[in-house]
Amino acid sequence: MQYQWYPGHMTKAKRQMQEDLKLIDVVIELVDARIPYSSKNPDINAMSNGKSRVLLLNKADLADKQKNDEWKAYYESLGYYVVLINAKNGNGVRSVNDVITKACQEKIERDRKRGILNRPIRAMIVGIPNVGKSTFINAFAGKAIAKTGNKPGVTKGKQWIRLNKNVELLDTPGILWPKFEDQAVGLRIALIGSINDEILVTSELGYELCKFMTANYPGALAAKYGVEECEDGNELLCRIARKRACLLKGGELDIEKAAGFLLDDFRNGRIGNFTLEIPKNE
Ligand code: G4P
Repeated sequence: MQYQWYPGHMTKAKRQMQEDLKLIDVVIELVDARIPYSSKNPDINAMSNGKSRVLLLNKADLADKQKNDEWKAYYESLGYYVVLINAKNGNGVRSVNDVITKACQEKIERDRKRGILNRPIRAMIVGIPNVGKSTFINAFAGKAIAKTGNKPGVTKGKQWIRLNKNVELLDTPGILWPKFEDQAVGLRIALIGSINDEILVTSELGYELCKFMTANYPGALAAKYGVEECEDGNELLCRIARKRACLLKGGELDIEKAAGFLLDDFRNGRIGNFTLEIPKNE
């Protein structure tokens, strides 16, 4: 799915988000574990000032296991409650409930002192397109979603999914925009496949991926494609095209096709599990 964020579009989304944030106690932000920096919205921190923050590093199954731990520790050092999850198969999803309760402990205490007992925590899922928000909501809410689905027509105002006696979830996720100003961020979002390929040059992405992989995960492309690696991304892409017999009609190498294979293998974890960035300041 392709989202274009125009200034007007973004202002509207921001206003909506600010309204929704008034209703909730905890923001659950999803990022892609392969690009935990680039897939994190730049404005959500300022907007959710004072709310508890839970950060889910989703698609952890596709990312580098060691880097997963480093990123988790990094965001924890910034005060987030962090969980590594795979929303697709449900790994880690069950522990999110406990983490939400932990993140909201202060609020629960405050309520208790005021004599308010068992008021559910209200939560909202946010994240940029494609990080897995809908998949996560389905995995997390499970049967609760099916229940609300049985009541057609009750759509006035906000819809909440009652997950259990502790937590209520706003049923629509907040779709946020990525960082725009940074070209490198756009490239990484494209590499993991979260920007529509039609607007991008596949061979260019393939070239960038070859360069990144040989520098950061030497040996991985050699093992997958049986090619000798080299620093020159273009040359490496040609070698992969040759090995894969990606040829145009006249016998010339079909670089676009080879880059397409490479990206598809990379995005689906068929080359291995990789993370494109290392922890750095937000
Ligand atoms: P969004 O609401 O944030 O836009 O994202 P959505 O849930 O639609 O998920 C985007 C894609 O990411 C989906 O793939 C989904 O299956 C996949 N996905 C979500 N979480 C995980 C995860 O933890 N691990 C992996 N490996 N994939 C995940 P799709 O190709 O669009 O659909 P499908 O082929 O899975 O049906």
